[in-house]
Amino acid sequence: MDALLDFTGKVAIITGAASGFGELLASELGARGAKLVISDINTDGVMAVAEALKEKGVDVLAMTCDVSKEADCIAQVETAVREFGGLDISVNNAGIAPAMSSLLETTEAMMDKQFNVNVKGVFFGMKHQIPAMDKDGVILNVSSMAGLGGAPKVISYSAAKHAVIGLTKTAAVEFARKGVRVNAICPFFTLTPMVTGPNLNQTSNVEELEAFLGRGSPMKRLGKPHEIVNVMLMILSPGNTYMTGQTIAIDGGVSAF
Ligand SMILES: NC(=O)c1ccc[n+]([C@@H]2O[C@H](COP(=O)([O-])OP(=O)(O)OC[C@H]3O[C@@H](n4cnc5c(N)ncnc54)[C@H](O)[C@@H]3O)[C@@H](O)[C@H]2O)c1
Repeated sequence: MDALLDFTGKVAIITGAASGFGELLASELGARGAKLVISDINTDGVMAVAEALKEKGVDVLAMTCDVSKEADCIAQVETAVREFGGLDISVNNAGIAPAMSSLLETTEAMMDKQFNVNVKGVFFGMKHQIPAMDKDGVILNVSSMAGLGGAPKVISYSAAKHAVIGLTKTAAVEFARKGVRVNAICPFFTLTPMVTGPNLNQTSNVEELEAFLGRGSPMKRLGKPHEIVNVMLMILSPGNTYMTGQTIAIDGGVSAF
């Protein structure tokens, strides 16, 4: 295996691994030798992902973790350390979709929900993951294009994903001397269940959805899950040792406008 993508023996936590990016990343890291502690609020879903990976020979443990609960985030780190002897990689990926409401329609409850999951989930994650890491630990937080700019009807999601970037940059600076790298990705719309599901998709036709949401993109299309996950692997690569505090747009050129 190419050393740049060889994760043999690395212990990795992935939150939100029952679906979408988290599920695919678990498969890709597992195939490259990582030992995985995967979690989700969807217990049945993450257990099924783990069973499928075990059949392929991956060393994987699955557990329930609601990232908005600090005790769950602590338990996930404790599981990695107890069962696999340490922690090298953490991907704070779990998240909920935009509420799709304008500023004036947005309630305090909507804002609280976004911040409880999409912001506190990353905060609780890093707070307990980083102390368990030795030198060369890697954290990857999943922000969004909505973390780099605004768009109509995503006010609570956009605020939350901007906050993920603040958490990422601050943690990167605080822990750079320890040797832990902390980066974030900012994907444009990608065809995971979050986008193809009923919350964002008003049509049952994925091609129509792609044409509608992709019209503002230079590539005139949405991302495919593997196009995001391949970049996640590159950022997590053991060869990527000098990059920290960065927010990497994976967006078909949207941010180049
Ligand atoms: N798909 C996109 O277009 C897109 C674009 C930018 C950013 N993102 C971000 O990527 C991440 C992954 O999203 P996805 O597209 O794979 O969506 P997805 O809906 O397929 O997966 C998200 C997973 O997170 C889990 N989850 C939700 N709330 C949770 C909680 N409180 N605790 C633990 N798990 C929880 C869900 O059960 C689900 O399995 C999210 O943070 C999302 O905001 C997605």
